[in-house]
This record gives sequence, C-alpha cells and structure tokens, in this order.
Amino acid sequence: MKERRNFDAAAALWDEEPRRLKLSQDIAAAIKAHVPVSAQWDAMDYGCGTGLVTLQLAPHLGSILGVDSSQGMLDRLTAKIRELAMTNVSVLRCDLEQGELPGRSFDLITSAMTLHHIPEPLQLLQSLRGLLKSGGWIALADLESEDGSFHDDSTGVFHHGFSRDMIMKVLQLAGFQKIAIVTAATVIKGERSYPVFLAAAMAA
Ligand SMILES: C[S@@+](CC[C@H](N)C(=O)[O-])C[C@H]1O[C@@H](n2cnc3c(N)ncnc32)[C@H](O)[C@@H]1O
Repeated sequence: MKERRNFDAAAALWDEEPRRLKLSQDIAAAIKAHVPVSAQWDAMDYGCGTGLVTLQLAPHLGSILGVDSSQGMLDRLTAKIRELAMTNVSVLRCDLEQGELPGRSFDLITSAMTLHHIPEPLQLLQSLRGLLKSGGWIALADLESEDGSFHDDSTGVFHHGFSRDMIMKVLQLAGFQKIAIVTAATVIKGERSYPVFLAAAMAA
C-alpha cells in the first residue's frame, strides 16, 4: 500500500507559506457564500491541519471542532486557539479511516485540501454523512483534476485532484443532495495555476 504522509513533520512551518493562507481565506469565503452558516451551528473541520480554515469560520458559528489525524498539526492549532483566546474552537485527534469517531454529530462539516490524501473518498464521505445531523451541510474544498505537478513530494497523495463528475457521484452515493460545485480559489505555483473547487451539499 502507498505510504501516508507524515504531517507532524510539516506542522511547524505549515503557516509560513503565504499561498496557504490565501487559499484558506478564499475557501472560507466560498463556504460562507454557498452555505447558510449560522451562529447556532456546531461544526467540524475534518483534516483541519493548523486550523487555517477552522479559525476563519469560527466567528460565524456556534462552535467548531478541528479534527485531524496529526497531533503535530493539532498542537499548532491549540497554540493559536490560546493566543487568540478563542472560546468556541476545540480540537480532537481522530482518524475516521481507522474507525475512530468524534462521538457527536454536527450541523456542518468542512474539509479543505484533505480528500486527495484519502485513499477511499467514498468511504470517508459516508462516514462524514453519518456524523451530520438531519439536514446538515458538507463543504468540501480540494484540487480540481491536475497532472500530478501540484505536489513537490507526492508521498501520501492518493489523487491528483478530482473531476467535478467524480465529486458529484461520490457525494450522491454517500447520501448527499442539493449538490453545488463552484470554483473557490486558484493556487498559483510558478508558471502553473491550479483551480480549487468547493462542493457544498446537504445530508439527504
Ligand atoms: C493538505 S493538509 C490541509 C490542512 C488544512 N485543511 C488546510 O487547508 O491548511 C491535509 C490535512 O489532512 C490531515 N489528514 C490526512 N489524512 C487524514 C485522516 N485520515 N484523518 C484526519 N486527518 C487527515 C493531515 O494530517 C493534514 O493536516
């Protein structure tokens, strides 16, 4: 089986890349534009990393739980939560792929730039669907299909982005409806540009 990436090793310098902050700002803006986020909602950000998207959504929600399989990433997010004195953000180390569960359900689940690191996207989306309350929303942002040049290190990269047809299909199969897919951002790396989609949908 293909090797997973060790995100613990990347955590300390993750936020130092300006393109990552810009991407997270664009993704958070797209989520707010396409999902009726509410201050009454409890949300989860799956594969939250250092919380670049999590922390931007937090002021618009009742609460948000940053979930990641990397303790190193979560340690960075925990430090930022303390620095910013944010009271509605918490973290949990949890890997749904390993059958671990957060033990509660959510009105909104977001996930940014994580799906391409997941070998079986349908299984993950089915697990996320199971964690949503009735009528809850999912907001997924990831790379559109690319030629494999986005990552300098392809360790733990299981998909070179996704076609919109593929995302539509797996969301439908996982039990989502009212699926809308839009362009959320474009990442510029050197001479190349990589579109990033946002797929927003409701639990059927
Ligand atoms: C490319 S980073 C994106 C981080 C963050 N969402 C952002 O936009 O900056 C992917 C994240 O997914 C996490 N991840 C990968 N596989 C995971 C899994 N099976 N369960 C939970 N998190 C996972 C990694 O640890 C990493 O923090």
